[in-house]
Amino acid sequence: MTEDIKKGLAGVVVDSTAVSKVVQETNSLTYRGYPVQELAANCSFEEVAYLIWNGELPNAEQLEEFVARERGQRAIDQKLVDIILGLPKDTHPMHVVQTAVSYLGAVDEQAEDNSPEANQAKAERLYAQLPTIVAIDHRRRHGLDPVAPTSDLSYAANFFKMVFDEVPADEVVRCFDISMILYAEHSFNASTFTARVIASTTSDLHSAVAGAVGALKGPLHGGANEAVMAMLEEVGTADKASAWIDNALANKEKIMGFGHRVYKNGDSRVPTMRAAFEDMVKVKGANDLLDLYNTFEEDFVGRKGIYPNLDYPSGPAYHLMGFDTPQFTPIFVMSRITGWTAHIMEQHANNALIRPLSAYHGEAQREVPTQR
Ligand code: ACO
Repeated sequence: MTEDIKKGLAGVVVDSTAVSKVVQETNSLTYRGYPVQELAANCSFEEVAYLIWNGELPNAEQLEEFVARERGQRAIDQKLVDIILGLPKDTHPMHVVQTAVSYLGAVDEQAEDNSPEANQAKAERLYAQLPTIVAIDHRRRHGLDPVAPTSDLSYAANFFKMVFDEVPADEVVRCFDISMILYAEHSFNASTFTARVIASTTSDLHSAVAGAVGALKGPLHGGANEAVMAMLEEVGTADKASAWIDNALANKEKIMGFGHRVYKNGDSRVPTMRAAFEDMVKVKGANDLLDLYNTFEEDFVGRKGIYPNLDYPSGPAYHLMGFDTPQFTPIFVMSRITGWTAHIMEQHANNALIRPLSAYHGEAQREVPTQR
């Protein structure tokens, strides 16, 4: 029955969601009904996180309470710090994040409680603590001691402080915040679907998030922001882009940061992130990188009609902010934790075990030989 196989579940609608909507035809994306570009232009990441979980933007009082809760939970316990510091220096940063999430599940008193209240509390703790985890890992790779979180800085500014021990110019913090908003949620992408599959067994939130981290790590998904930067560094300069693309296509390689399973005429998040990247280029005077970025894009789109996805501008933007390339996908986790956990709660609230069928193409049934 091969004609019934929907390889990669392409085009299959497996459930409904109220968290976000991706409209292929118009290349648009809304979170709880609000266009993501408008959220990026008018809101902080904290407001968007609240929106994703609660369905509405917060009023001033709700935001104050929500922000205070997040700021009060940023610190991680010393045992977890020691676990991170004890991992091999070349451990993939996404393995570090996954290990930390599993540890936090192991010690969370509400770990096995799947009630909406417990899940919300656990989601908020992960949201508050993931930046601390990512920052400690970043610093240990540079042989630097952790910088403790502070409660008087925004989510984004505190992250910079914990990574670099200083807060950069407001424009840089704002570019980062925009990337957090754009990465927060994207319906049934591979990592969110992974989280929903795990949640559908009525397993716990930390287990579902740990699985989602594993799915996001791959270069066909979240790992692409790292792969984009590695690719641009390998190409080097704008004049080498065309020959590099010739060679990659001749070798049937995928060009990282281009193409999307849902958007076929451009990713709705790209114009906003591209503008943020251009702001970073201005701050850093990195015109050569912009030149390479534009030349590469024009050349590849011109040949294949395959457009950039969010990872194409976000990779070089993070590079200009000073982050190491292997940290880009963990930064994506800090944002997507909001979307993942909203979906886990939605799955728990209206659950059906996710268990598809497969078509078999192995040996026909046969007897086990008694003489071997
Ligand atoms: N480079 C070169 N060719 C491509 C690319 C690309 N980036 N993307 C698609 N194509 C080609 C394929 O080779 C295929 O060509 P063919 O029909 O001649 O064989 C055709 O376009 C369709 O591609 P598929 O891979 O079948 O399309 P799918 O919907 O499965 O792919 C995907 C989506 C996996 C994202 C793909 O475009 C890709 O691998 N891109 C690079 C990785 C990437 O940037 N991932 C990030 C996704 S966005 C995110 O996670 C935030």
